[in-house]
Amino acid sequence: MVQTFFKRSCTIDRLRRGPSAGHIDLFAVRLWGQNIGSKMRGQAPSSSITLLFVFFRALFRTAVVTVLLSLAAASGQEPKLINGYEPKWWKEAIVYQVYPRSFKDSNGDGIGDLPGITSKLDYLQKLGVNVIWLSPHFDSPNIDGGYDIRDYRKVMIEFGTMSDFDQLLAGIKQRHMRLIIDLVVNHTSDENKWFVESRSSKTNPYRDFYIWRPGHTAADGTRTPPNNYPSYFSGSAWTLDPETNEYYLHYFTAKQPDLNWANPKVREEVFSLMRFWLDKGVSGFRMDVIPLISKPTGMPDLTPEQLKAPPNAYANGPHLAEYLHEINREVLSKYDDMSVGEATGTTLAQTNNLVDDRRHELNMIFNFDAIKLGRSDFGLSQLGAWTLPELKAIYDAHATVLTKHDWDTVFLSNHDNPRIVSTFGDDSPAMRVPSAKLFETMILTLRGTPFLFEGDELGMTDFPFKTLADYDDISVKNAYKALVDTGKISAEAFLTSQAKVSRDNARTPMQWDSSPEAGFTTGSHPWLAVNPNYKEINAAREESDPTSVLNYVRALIGLRVHTLAFVYGDFEDLDPQHPHVFAYTRTLGSEKYLIVENFSSSPVTYTLSNGLKAANLLLSDIPGSHESNVSTLNLAPWESRIYKQ
Ligand code: GLC
Ligand code: CA
Repeated sequence: MVQTFFKRSCTIDRLRRGPSAGHIDLFAVRLWGQNIGSKMRGQAPSSSITLLFVFFRALFRTAVVTVLLSLAAASGQEPKLINGYEPKWWKEAIVYQVYPRSFKDSNGDGIGDLPGITSKLDYLQKLGVNVIWLSPHFDSPNIDGGYDIRDYRKVMIEFGTMSDFDQLLAGIKQRHMRLIIDLVVNHTSDENKWFVESRSSKTNPYRDFYIWRPGHTAADGTRTPPNNYPSYFSGSAWTLDPETNEYYLHYFTAKQPDLNWANPKVREEVFSLMRFWLDKGVSGFRMDVIPLISKPTGMPDLTPEQLKAPPNAYANGPHLAEYLHEINREVLSKYDDMSVGEATGTTLAQTNNLVDDRRHELNMIFNFDAIKLGRSDFGLSQLGAWTLPELKAIYDAHATVLTKHDWDTVFLSNHDNPRIVSTFGDDSPAMRVPSAKLFETMILTLRGTPFLFEGDELGMTDFPFKTLADYDDISVKNAYKALVDTGKISAEAFLTSQAKVSRDNARTPMQWDSSPEAGFTTGSHPWLAVNPNYKEINAAREESDPTSVLNYVRALIGLRVHTLAFVYGDFEDLDPQHPHVFAYTRTLGSEKYLIVENFSSSPVTYTLSNGLKAANLLLSDIPGSHESNVSTLNLAPWESRIYKQ
C-alpha cells in the first residue's frame, strides 16, 4: 500500500537548501530558542527563577528579532518566496485539535485533563502532526464546553493546574511540536470578575466592558429587548439583568455576555492575556468567532432578509479591521506565532480582508463553506443534500479568490460538527475505512494548512443518539426548549435531525482501546457516553492493523510533511463537473502530483482528461491497489490515490 512512498524525493531539503536559504537561518534560531526553553522547563525551576527566565527569554527574543530584522533591512533582503508564497512554519504545519474534556482522563473522574493529554504526546508525535490546537483549558463554569471563560489566567480545575499546563507545553516542545490555544474574547462567562463588576451598578468602572442597553418599555411597563437580535443558541441575544434593570448582549447563551471591544480598556486586557500565554511559550491562537467582536453600527433590528442568516449581519463590523490590526501590532507581530480566526458569518469574498499578509491582521481563517455544505451555521441546522461538484466548486473558488498574499485552511471537522465519515462519507461497516481514508487524503493534499480533529485519524463515527438525555450540549437543550416545548416541531423530528448534526457527535471520548470506556477513563462514568462501537474502532486495534485508517493517516502525513508541493504548489481541478470523482493536481516547479478520489460506494472506471496519464502510484487507501502509468483508472469504492507525475 505505502509502496514507493518510502522512496520519496527529499523535496523539502532541496527547496530549503536552494531558493529559501535566507529562511533557514531564521528557522534555526527559532528552534534553538525553543530547545533552550524546554530544557529549562524540564528542570522544574522555582517560581522566581521561572519569572526571571520568562523575562530574560522575552528580552532575548525581542533582541534576536530586532537584530534579524535590521540585518535584513540593512541588506535590503526580501524574504525568499516559494511559488510566490512567503515560507512560514504555520503554512507547513499539520494541526491536530484536542478537545481536552474528551481526549484522555488521567485520574478516573470521567473528564479528560491536561496530564491525560501529556500521556498521549508520543501517540501524537508518532501520528506526525506538528501543531496541537487545544480547545479552551481555562477556568470556566463550563456551560458551553469551556467557551465561557471565568479567568483567562487559570486552568480549568477539572483539567488540572498551571504546572500541568507547563508540563504539557514542555512535552510538546521536547517532541518538536507546537501548541496553539483558544482565544475566546468575543465574550466571557457571566462569572468572569469583569462581568460580576459590570452588572453590579451602572457606574461601576467595568460597566462599559460589556454592552448594556435599556431596551424598550411599553405604556403598561412591559420590557422588550433593544432589538430583534436572535442568539446563536436560541431565543433573544439580550437578557434583562434585574440588578440594574438593563439588557446585556450575548450572541451565545445568557451566561456568555459579549465584551465591548469599543472600550480600549477591554482591548488592553485582551492584549495582556495574549502576552501572558505567548510569554509562557504557546505558538499562537485559534480565535473564537473573531469576526463578531465589532458590533454593527447602531445595532438596528435585523431585516427579514438578514434574519435568514444573522451571522452575516453580526460579523465583520465597521471596526473589525482596526481591532485585528491592533491585535497584530500590539501582540502578534512581536512573536513567532500563528493566528487562525474562526470566521463565522464571513464569505469567501471577505476573506482577503482578514488574511492578506500586507494588512498585518490574521494569518488565516476557517471558512465554513465546505463543512456546512447543505446546512446552515445558525440555529437548528439539518443535514442537507450535497453533491460532489458543489464541494469541488468551493475548493475551486478558494483557489481563485485567494491570492499569494492570503493563506487558507482545509478541514471538515472540529468540536462543533458531526464526524466526517458519518456526514460526508459512508460509515457502514464495509465503507467506513476507505471513506474515512479518502477524506484524510483530500484534507492533506488540498491547498491550505490542514486541521484534523481528534479521532479523525481512527475514522471515528457519529454517536447513536436517541433521547434528549443522551446530549450534553447546551445548544441542543436550548433548541429543544425553543422548538419542541413550544410545539414548533415534534420531538421526534428534532431528535432525528440532531442525531445527525449535533456537536456532541464530535465530543464523545477518544477511543483508545477495547477496555471498558475505550480506555478513555479508568472510572465508570465518562462525562459523555463512549460510542458503543469502540471495540471495533480504537487506536490500539488500529495500531496493529497495517490496513487501518490510523496507519494510513500516518503514511499520508509522512508524505505531506516531506512534500512542499502539497503546501505551496498550485492547485488544478481537472474535472469540476464529474459527479463521483475528484481529480486534481498540485504543482510546484517541475514537481507535479495527481490525486484521484472516488466519492462513491461503488467502483468507478475513470479516464483522465486531455490524454493525461497517472504516472507513479505513491499511495492508495486500498491495500493491493497497483495501477501505474495508466490513463484509465479502475477505482474501488471510496478509493483515493496519490500519483507522482
Ligand atoms: C465557537 C466555538 C463554539 C462555541 C461558540 C461560542 O463557535 O467553536 O464551540 O460554542 O464559539 O463561544
Ligand atoms: Ca480527569
